[in-house]
Amino acid sequence: MTNDPVALITGASRGLGLALARALAERGWRVVVDGRDATRLAAAAASANTVPSTPSVPEKPSVPDKAAAPEMASDDAGLRQRHAVPGRVIPIAGDVTDAAHRRALVDAAARLGRLDLVVANASELGPSPLPTLAGAPLDAVRAVYETNVIAPLALVQLVLPPLRASGGTLLTISSDAAVEAYPRWGVYGPSKAALDHLAAILAVEEPAVGVYAVDPGDMRTEMHQRAFPDEDISDRPPPEEVVPAILRLIATRPASGRYRAADLAVDAAVGRGPDLAADLAAGLAVDRPADLLTARAVR
Ligand SMILES: NC(=O)c1ccc[n+]([C@@H]2O[C@H](COP(=O)([O-])OP(=O)(O)OC[C@H]3O[C@@H](n4cnc5c(N)ncnc54)[C@H](OP(=O)(O)O)[C@@H]3O)[C@@H](O)[C@H]2O)c1
Repeated sequence: MTNDPVALITGASRGLGLALARALAERGWRVVVDGRDATRLAAAAASANTVPSTPSVPEKPSVPDKAAAPEMASDDAGLRQRHAVPGRVIPIAGDVTDAAHRRALVDAAARLGRLDLVVANASELGPSPLPTLAGAPLDAVRAVYETNVIAPLALVQLVLPPLRASGGTLLTISSDAAVEAYPRWGVYGPSKAALDHLAAILAVEEPAVGVYAVDPGDMRTEMHQRAFPDEDISDRPPPEEVVPAILRLIATRPASGRYRAADLAVDAAVGRGPDLAADLAAGLAVDRPADLLTARAVR
């Protein structure tokens, strides 16, 4: 049992999932994470189980039962010394398409006694190079839908009771490919569109839960390199640059809906919403700023 806020993030042995798990752990959260490669996941969890030795924010924010909130101080952790804090990030290796593994993830969170945030992040791109729909192998299409649509829904069905109880947050990680008809993105893109629509319906069916589809934008990750196998992707931002926008979403709890990380970052950069800034500075999760951000939700 813990009084710390608890998150469950799928696909957190690298990329965006790992960056988010590390950021939450640094802010005092317990984070259950998964990935299929057990060795890589264990190493990732060990690296995320370190925190800055001279934190600029309290290590364990005092968080009320409802809508636990991350601290929002600027992240200069990479510049500071770190020390190990075992047990913040809990690795459970497995495949999200496996029902027994999903149960193991939820059981791990249950042992911590609460669940405040679930991030359906693990995703399958499909064949690389990306095929046209005319030549897309149907087995690969099925596998992509199994990982990107069926598995997140199955996980959501397990986690809704504790999320309702905590007034928690559900994030599904989307993509611009969910809304744009890019040629050769016909395997992955429609699976993300389906995931978006699941999130939109969950948002109206589950008023006690904050439900967000979040488009992180391009990130310099293994998935992105597989999508552009012949390109130098070093100009894309690392996933760590997207994390502050996601932390902001979790902390501010705007109206459920679809959000682009870039819009959330722009809102903060141009200083929209002084009340929001004050709430963020206090590290509070509040319902009130919904009106500030509703207009920017991408439907
Ligand atoms: N990178 C981009 O430019 C971009 C743009 C838009 C949206 N996105 C979305 O952002 C999210 C994160 O992507 P990323 O770029 O960070 O990907 P990534 O670097 O390839 O990382 C994917 C993570 O998911 C895990 N994973 C994949 N399939 C899994 C499965 N079936 N079961 C359990 N874990 C699984 C991987 O570990 P294992 O392989 O060991 O399982 C890894 O930890 C995804 O939802 C993606 O669709 C990415």
